[in-house]
Amino acid sequence: MSVLKAQGLGKIFSSKGNVICTALNDIDLQVEAGEFVGVMGPSGSGKTTLLNLLAAMDRPTSGHIEINGMNPNKLSDKKLALFRRRELGFVFQDFNLLDSLSIKENIILPLVLDGTAPRLIEERLNPLAEWLQMTNLLNKRTYEVSGGQKQRAAIARALINEPSLVLADELTGSLDSKSAKDVMESLQEMNVRLKATVLMVTHDPFSASYCQRIVFIKDGRIFSEIRRGSNRQAFFQQILDALSVLGGNFNDASFARA
Ligand SMILES: Nc1ncnc2c1ncn2[C@@H]1O[C@H](COP(=O)(O)OP(=O)(O)OP(=O)(O)O)[C@@H](O)[C@H]1O
Ligand SMILES: [Mg+2]
Repeated sequence: MSVLKAQGLGKIFSSKGNVICTALNDIDLQVEAGEFVGVMGPSGSGKTTLLNLLAAMDRPTSGHIEINGMNPNKLSDKKLALFRRRELGFVFQDFNLLDSLSIKENIILPLVLDGTAPRLIEERLNPLAEWLQMTNLLNKRTYEVSGGQKQRAAIARALINEPSLVLADELTGSLDSKSAKDVMESLQEMNVRLKATVLMVTHDPFSASYCQRIVFIKDGRIFSEIRRGSNRQAFFQQILDALSVLGGNFNDASFARA
């Protein structure tokens, strides 16, 4: 079953009728339930634009999107807010946690906003916290934990309402390599345990090597696609090879990892 179907997706930015930039062109992308997919491409290739369209933060100028059978662009503002809260989970580069809340309060926020019963909230939280090895962090404030721990809390928050699709933009972009590894292992854990469907944008070949499939975009179009076999190290090498064919500016430091 496809969780995400995007067909002929295009985005032209314009101002007063003048085209400023064709950011995306005729993108066809399908993501199956339980898949863990990465999107890579040079700076300015349209990755964030694509995520914004899929998150219905912005409207495509052509094509259409279906997430869990629904077209978010056809929903009223009120229904769209609900759709985002129930069907989508988000993980951002800068964590977006609320500093006035504890780690636990941050994680359960989507359920609290949805009026979920406290007993159910605990039932959802406890296994997640255990799988992510965060049980001893739950009562800490955000400023008492590391960047990697913050991002793992953000992953738990994105997953707690069991969304149809998790969207992540550069989730390891602000982290050192050890924390990036912890965060990617956590996301992989969620993909395996909860069968979470994940679409993540990354510049980092090491982080990307945790995906099952990578879609490369260039100049707003799909350029190529590779799939992982059983070996992550081998996939890392495949990603480096694909990036060198793609060209563009990638973060050199991350090439030394894995
Ligand atoms: N609001 C906007 N108005 C005009 N042009 C935009 C707007 N947002 C993005 N663009 C342009 O669209 C293109 C794609 O931008 P986008 O942010 O999607 O790239 P990206 O692949 O995420 O890049 P990066 O890796 O640097 O984050 C770029 O040429 C950018 O300048
Ligand atoms: Mg971007």
